[in-house]
Amino acid sequence: MPKFLLTTAQGIEDIAAKEIERILSDLVLKIKIRPWGIEGRILLETKEGYYLDEKGKKRPISIGEVLTKNSRTLHRIISLLTVSRARNLEEIENVTREVDIEAYLKEKESFGVRAERFGSHEFRSVDIARVVGRIIQEKTKAPVNLDHPAVIIRAELIGDIFILGVDITGDHSLHRRPWRVYDHPAHLKASIANALIELSKPEGIFADPFCGSGTIPIELALRGYKNRIICLEKFRKHLTGAKMNAIAAGVFDKIEFVLGDATKLSKYVEEVNTVVSNLPYGLKIGKKGMIPKLYSEFFSELSKVLNGRGVFITTEKNAIEKAIEEHGFKILEKRIIGHGGLDVHCYVIR
Ligand SMILES: C[S@@+](CC[C@H](N)C(=O)[O-])C[C@H]1O[C@@H](n2cnc3c(N)ncnc32)[C@H](O)[C@@H]1O
Repeated sequence: MPKFLLTTAQGIEDIAAKEIERILSDLVLKIKIRPWGIEGRILLETKEGYYLDEKGKKRPISIGEVLTKNSRTLHRIISLLTVSRARNLEEIENVTREVDIEAYLKEKESFGVRAERFGSHEFRSVDIARVVGRIIQEKTKAPVNLDHPAVIIRAELIGDIFILGVDITGDHSLHRRPWRVYDHPAHLKASIANALIELSKPEGIFADPFCGSGTIPIELALRGYKNRIICLEKFRKHLTGAKMNAIAAGVFDKIEFVLGDATKLSKYVEEVNTVVSNLPYGLKIGKKGMIPKLYSEFFSELSKVLNGRGVFITTEKNAIEKAIEEHGFKILEKRIIGHGGLDVHCYVIR
């Protein structure tokens, strides 16, 4: 049965797993989030699926292709070759020798090994990549190309669990969307934007009052959202960037772009039903002292217009909790999400 190791952002594995179940439906045999305690990973086992082509011939469904096309929360899809125990480089070498890698590498096709290690070992991940690469080359005679390989082999050692697979996604993670032509310095990963959208259960008028380069509104529009979507941003440069991104994504006409101040939100909208936003962090805007006042003024405005759910992420835990409480909102859910090496706090409020 086909098995996959999937990667996503830490803290949204459950949301990604639900999305996979929705996409693959009864093809899913087993799904496990954070296997071996590793965050940001999902282990998936599926049934073989088939479809009938135009001539009525039975063809196998490529689970990797289906997930690549339809998932909005996954980063990487790795087709598993083996999951075995290995405590040292010699055992890694033995396991690699046993794998039927020839089935995945065509003659003269170049390959590269990308290795990662979790836990304490007396060797580095480059040593794993070197050993695995040598054995694959001995077995297949395929040329190594570390910069632009035709096939990427992923090797992960988690404690003494050794995982070897073919990375279907390639070197560019799926969260790097092709529509991003304007690169905001603090942009949100599209995978996390989608997880926040899921948590918000969007309905009615939707707004991101600190929309930056537009990641959240653009991803919502790409999901086919039928109601109004408002993208509010204080700085013209970023709002122009958001418009450029929306044009590249083909959803410019689905979003209302407003140049304005989120602490005066009620000036621009009378009522909103769903608000999702990645609030400015002190770290990123360089004026950490201003954050409590900014959050307090924003949540005060929000209390005038929000009739529904809000989902927010920030590193500024104390400031947001104080502002939420001060302005009469109720926290429905809290979680921590890994973003760009930081732990960001996520709140679902009403
Ligand atoms: C963390 S960034 C949002 C990034 C966005 N999610 C993206 O993916 O591009 C926060 C944004 O809030 C904007 N901002 C800061 N103060 C604001 C205010 N008072 N009103 C509206 N926008 C503001 C900043 O210019 C910045 O673009």
